[in-house]
Amino acid sequence: MNIQIIPAECPVKDDGPNKRFKMRVGFIGAGKVALPYGRYLYGHAITVSGYHDRHKEKLTRAATLTRSQAFENGAQAACNSDILLIATRDDQIAGVCTDLCRQGTISADHLVGHLSGAHSSEILAPAAAAGAAVFSLHPLQAFANEETALRELKNTYFSVEGTDPRLSTIEELLAITGNRCLRLLPEHKRLYHLTACIFSNYLVTLISAGMQALEKSGIDPREGFEAMLPLIEGTITNIIRTGPAKALTGPIARGDAGTIRQHLEALTEHNLTDLKSFYRFMGVQTLTLAMQAILTDPLKIDHLQQILNIDDPS
Ligand SMILES: NC(=O)c1ccc[n+]([C@@H]2O[C@H](COP(=O)([O-])OP(=O)(O)OC[C@H]3O[C@@H](n4cnc5c(N)ncnc54)[C@H](OP(=O)(O)O)[C@@H]3O)[C@@H](O)[C@H]2O)c1
Repeated sequence: MNIQIIPAECPVKDDGPNKRFKMRVGFIGAGKVALPYGRYLYGHAITVSGYHDRHKEKLTRAATLTRSQAFENGAQAACNSDILLIATRDDQIAGVCTDLCRQGTISADHLVGHLSGAHSSEILAPAAAAGAAVFSLHPLQAFANEETALRELKNTYFSVEGTDPRLSTIEELLAITGNRCLRLLPEHKRLYHLTACIFSNYLVTLISAGMQALEKSGIDPREGFEAMLPLIEGTITNIIRTGPAKALTGPIARGDAGTIRQHLEALTEHNLTDLKSFYRFMGVQTLTLAMQAILTDPLKIDHLQQILNIDDPS
């Protein structure tokens, strides 16, 4: 299939294919991750063999922007690639892999991976049985917007999970694009992924809880959040410098039980029942952290424990 080339849209140092890295990278799925990642690889002179996607528009655009082929099916993608990335949604990966293997298109010449953070390479077992080196390659980044993703890829860490010695090729690929990587074993993949969820998703939940209290305090939420932003950023900077336990400040770190009592009373007064449970739970976790490095006075600790654990149904 001939692809129309639109050079102006390709942010690439176009000095031909990379001489060091001869492997061709192909994608099944041309969605939110595969498209910017393929463009990123192409920008580093890695040969993108092409894409297969069931949406023609996405397929044509991805192939055009990476000057690669628009494959009509997965088998074509496999036959024309050394590294095959199954870049579909998580629940589609195993099915795509099984179909390719049933068609006999995967062999010991392939490295077959997926991009999911949640699954390990074990869901690619049929490809491993066909002799391929299987892996998962997870970019630690949220791909909400294509151009932003493309810009941020250079600072993105990837996790490479799998046990096959041939995966040194994937590390080599990451080294060429300048991305650092975490190596993982299949049995650690679930813990790794839940860790990423805590750092990313639960941080959003934490900020949303703060916004709820902000709204009740008569401050314009937008302005209030702007005012809190230097506090959030300063806290992150302190964590980077000292680690979480020593970065802790505020009433729990000081052992100020009276202030915590007042906070709980204010939550009751404003009918913020869910937020009160959340505040208590976080308070107990924060106290445990404070006791590791900052708060040593047993009386203060005991007082705080009592206030945070009081069984108050209001
Ligand atoms: N999005 C993120 O922020 C992010 C971050 C890190 C890792 N990841 C991982 O990256 C992977 C891809 O996610 P994504 O967000 O890029 O997905 P996506 O935007 O939904 O793209 C997947 C594409 O593959 C197509 N597809 C599905 N099954 C196919 C098949 N059998 N043959 C051809 N095309 C097929 C889909 O079509 P349909 O829409 O019709 O199914 C869709 O166009 C996932 O494993 C995800 O966990 C995502």
